[in-house]
Amino acid sequence: MQVRINSADVKYTEKHIESRYCYHTACVCRDGDALTVTPSSTEFTFRTERTVPRLGVMLVGWGGNNGTTVTAAVLANKLGLSWRTKTGVKKANYYGSLLESSTVCLGSGPDGEVYVPFRDLLPMAHPNDIVFDGWDISSLDLGGAMERAQVLDWSLQEKLRPLMDQLKPRPSVYIPEFIAANQELRADHLITGTKAEQVAQIRRDICDFRQKSGVEKVIVLWTANTERFCDVVPGVNDTAENLLNTIETGGEVSPSTMFAVASILEGCAYINGSPQNTFVPGAVDLAVQRGVFISGDDFKSGQTKLKSVLVDFLVSAGIKPTCIVSYNHLGNNDGLNLSAPDQFRSKEISKSNVVDDIVRSNPILFRPGEKPDHCVVIKYVPYVGDSKRAMDEYTSEIMMGGTNTIAMHNTCEDSLLASPIILDLVILTELCQRISFCTREDPVFQSFHSVLSLLSFLCKAPLVPQGAPVVNAFFRQRACIENVMRACLGLPPQNHMQLEHKME
Ligand code: NAI
Repeated sequence: MQVRINSADVKYTEKHIESRYCYHTACVCRDGDALTVTPSSTEFTFRTERTVPRLGVMLVGWGGNNGTTVTAAVLANKLGLSWRTKTGVKKANYYGSLLESSTVCLGSGPDGEVYVPFRDLLPMAHPNDIVFDGWDISSLDLGGAMERAQVLDWSLQEKLRPLMDQLKPRPSVYIPEFIAANQELRADHLITGTKAEQVAQIRRDICDFRQKSGVEKVIVLWTANTERFCDVVPGVNDTAENLLNTIETGGEVSPSTMFAVASILEGCAYINGSPQNTFVPGAVDLAVQRGVFISGDDFKSGQTKLKSVLVDFLVSAGIKPTCIVSYNHLGNNDGLNLSAPDQFRSKEISKSNVVDDIVRSNPILFRPGEKPDHCVVIKYVPYVGDSKRAMDEYTSEIMMGGTNTIAMHNTCEDSLLASPIILDLVILTELCQRISFCTREDPVFQSFHSVLSLLSFLCKAPLVPQGAPVVNAFFRQRACIENVMRACLGLPPQNHMQLEHKME
């Protein structure tokens, strides 16, 4: 579907879609008990390049459950595969992708509201056209790794196997202390040498992929094991210069940060799909200096996604959640890695802050600093494999001292939920690289801030520019993406007022 805007505020040139857009905000001043609200507006010009480049994606942890599943899913979609299961014939699709499988309302036509796929709003890469490559510390080819993952139906695996067998991960950086000791057996495919030599090798790999595959743009995404947190130490990783120096001298730098540094130095956006603090201040500093996008942390796929909807619903409805207990058990390699305390701690931190902004938004229910009790438990149970079970209990206070308890059981087929998120992350990042904007006051076109907070919707612990508010609430995050895209088309934010239906 092609969307074309009929407005004096929107200009289509061969290269760009250019829109004039009025951004409305309000400034609030408090004086004792009185709040004074002053609306203001800023005139923006948005410019979106129309040519979509051939996109290459390099996955760190390509041989893992997510890496193999996303690669296989794209191949299956590209080939239009269908396969038999005991419940009938299944057909490849992109369910779970915001861009491919959800819609936005453009407005009303003679037959009522008109919805289009999100992906049709602006020119963007199609998942079927993405070329994958990547690294893994395990040497298994993607065919064998897909079988090891135990995610996809066997009859589909059989169809994909000859193609997947040809895909081989590149050797990677392994520093045993960062991931669980139980991963050691997998680590048979390594880049050797000093840290500086390893970063140089990653950079050569990126160049090699770009050259051999003919892709025009490369984005690197970490979907490897969760690492332990890295200490942020002044002089070691607090500035870009210190971080680069530490890589040269061989001090503490995690493999994920080494990949981030190599990507940024190659001008490639870097996305962190795991919870660890890859983006130490020095890595953020380097990205800002080089004008390269970084984004993360930790895919928001199952339990946390639901939490960011449910707590938003409760608090928006004036109900006070007082106690949230989240229990998971899973039996895939991610679960095995997370059974070690330091790696679990990274996940626990990432999962814990998701309700903070929602709670802070309601001072009627919560005093300053007050939060619900929030506990997260993760257990490794091999039998359930990738089919993670998430059980949650939400206890809330309702009117007149009453209690409301919601208990939930959610079977999250982990990698099948994470794979479409990986696609959305890279496609949105690529789109953002083609958007620039200026204001009437500052007419020089600029890009979004290097810390690409627009992707918060897809992340459990969104990384935002220093001083910017973190938004976890699901529908606010989604509205942000939709409304920014609408701004690129000179369309007002979706307001759901439907005034035309509320008049005599
Ligand atoms: P997995 O354990 O199946 O895959 C990880 C892969 O990374 C393995 O093949 C491993 O050999 C490889 N690896 C480890 N260290 C590496 C390194 N330094 N360089 C290159 N490869 C390395 O895990 P899965 O299920 O694919 O998840 C990947 C990551 O995504 C985990 O950190 C997980 O916590 C995170 N995640 C997954 C979600 C999901 O729903 N599947 C949701 C949120 C985050």
